[in-house]
Amino acid sequence: MTDVSGMGSGPEDQREVLTNRQGHPVYDNQNQRTIGPRGPATLENYQFLEKISHFDRERIPERVVHARGTLSYGYFEAYGRLGDEPIDRYTRAKLFQQEGKRTEVAVRFSTVIGGRDSAETARDPRGFAIKFYTEDGNWDLVGNNLAVFFIRDAIKFPDVIHALKPDPVTFRQDPNRIFDFMSQTPESLHMLVNLFSPRGIPADYRHMQGFGVNTYKWVNKDGQSFLVKYHWMPKQGVRSMTEADAAAVQAHDLGHATKDLHDAIERGDYPEWELLVQLMSDDEHPELDFDPLDDTKVWPENDFPALPVGRLVLNRNVENQFAENEQSAFGTGVLVDGLDFSDDKMLVGRTFSYSDTQRYRVGPNYLQLPVNQTKAPCRTNQRDGQMTYFVDTAGESPHINYEPSVRDGLREAHYPHPDEVGPVVTGRLTRKRLPRTNDYVQAGQRYLLMEEWERDDLVHNLVTNLKQCDRVIQERMVWHFLLAEDDLGLRVGEGLGITPDDVAGLEPLRSQDLTDEDRGRLSKLG
Ligand code: HEM
Repeated sequence: MTDVSGMGSGPEDQREVLTNRQGHPVYDNQNQRTIGPRGPATLENYQFLEKISHFDRERIPERVVHARGTLSYGYFEAYGRLGDEPIDRYTRAKLFQQEGKRTEVAVRFSTVIGGRDSAETARDPRGFAIKFYTEDGNWDLVGNNLAVFFIRDAIKFPDVIHALKPDPVTFRQDPNRIFDFMSQTPESLHMLVNLFSPRGIPADYRHMQGFGVNTYKWVNKDGQSFLVKYHWMPKQGVRSMTEADAAAVQAHDLGHATKDLHDAIERGDYPEWELLVQLMSDDEHPELDFDPLDDTKVWPENDFPALPVGRLVLNRNVENQFAENEQSAFGTGVLVDGLDFSDDKMLVGRTFSYSDTQRYRVGPNYLQLPVNQTKAPCRTNQRDGQMTYFVDTAGESPHINYEPSVRDGLREAHYPHPDEVGPVVTGRLTRKRLPRTNDYVQAGQRYLLMEEWERDDLVHNLVTNLKQCDRVIQERMVWHFLLAEDDLGLRVGEGLGITPDDVAGLEPLRSQDLTDEDRGRLSKLG
């Protein structure tokens, strides 16, 4: 038998012995094997080469967005009802059905633009991604802390992210690039009014809201579908930071939000959020001045009340950040029976993008890693590929890794609900915007809903950033703000030395459809 007692430590040292990955004991971890004490080294030095070459491969590509983040575990507890009604009138998803039913979850919070070790005090949306390990397989709800997004069509995502990421030459996040893009993308106005307000720097992850942002569907026991939006409300309350607060925190800690969440869970102060949903019938809703599939819009709560359906509690930290956080993989395609996609053009693009990037970032077998694995029975005929960790058993016979077979192997499930009654869709192939873009009304309403100090902070932040932009970009942004809300446009303009007269002659952009109300505001300029 191999003696693994270790030569470097005394017989009194009871700790476990260091080995390499082959299980060989490491007798000397301080010196390479060399010919004589002064070298040279030799190539057959397996222990040294294995140690260094594994180290050389320690990093995987970081996420292209949301690289800085942290993961924790907990549970979701269902209320079993939607307001006064049984919830199965709206969704048959099992995790929502019985009051008190608990489903294990993993939640990853993140910032968007910075790299893996960047500051958590950045003005930036925060990611709020939940993986529900349900009995029907995994459900991922991949959201942000702000209720709307910059764009409404996935084809623009690489552009908006390139504009927000550092300049490829100077590697500085540059307001002149950001507002260059935004000034030509009026649908971003609603998001900008949120992002440059105090909500753009949440105090930490425990004190922020979460939103699914995109429109999904619920499907009930009769196969009838509804449009749905998801909202997470923190029981801890919502707290934000001004730029001055953020600068003070950042001076001594780049990872304050991860630390805050980790420490709260360690001391048993478990953070909690309530999940609320807004529902609409599954149609185009011509009575609204926006399209329900437009993720730059919120649904007015007076018409579509937000009703609670359950609560989320986080009560366990990861044991290893790399294995469980860095290699975790969330995506909008990961749904269970009773939940569905809508035709939201962002959601469709996202659903392709997540698993595509994860096959590249983590590898084709990323779903075999413990954090990503379903806890539901999982039997596939998928085989092989890099880093295959296990082979699903296929019935009694390992020979039958195909379907159909009269001999053995896996069979198809009996589809439980054959009578889907979703909308019938017909139309010409086209590349058109949604019909009701209405880019300004909700941005203006959001401004008016803010408290006085929030408006002051928003104007201050916009002016500070826009001062670093070319005049032509400043003017177009003031033009947009005037169309959203007079007071906002006048105040930002004043900070930049731009009057309504200065921008009165600007033509609408080719990329926008103005409403009659917008045209009315436009005609009053100057
Ligand atoms: C992460 C694409 C819009 C929330 C990511 C990643 C990609 C991506 C490629 C990295 C995933 C990984 O490496 O595992 C897209 C595309 C979008 C889009 C193409 C638009 C078409 C959005 C929107 C939201 C959002 C609107 C908010 C509702 C997130 C979150 C993560 C993420 C929270 C981090 C997930 C995690 O913690 O691992 N996105 N995204 N994304 N995205 Fe998006």
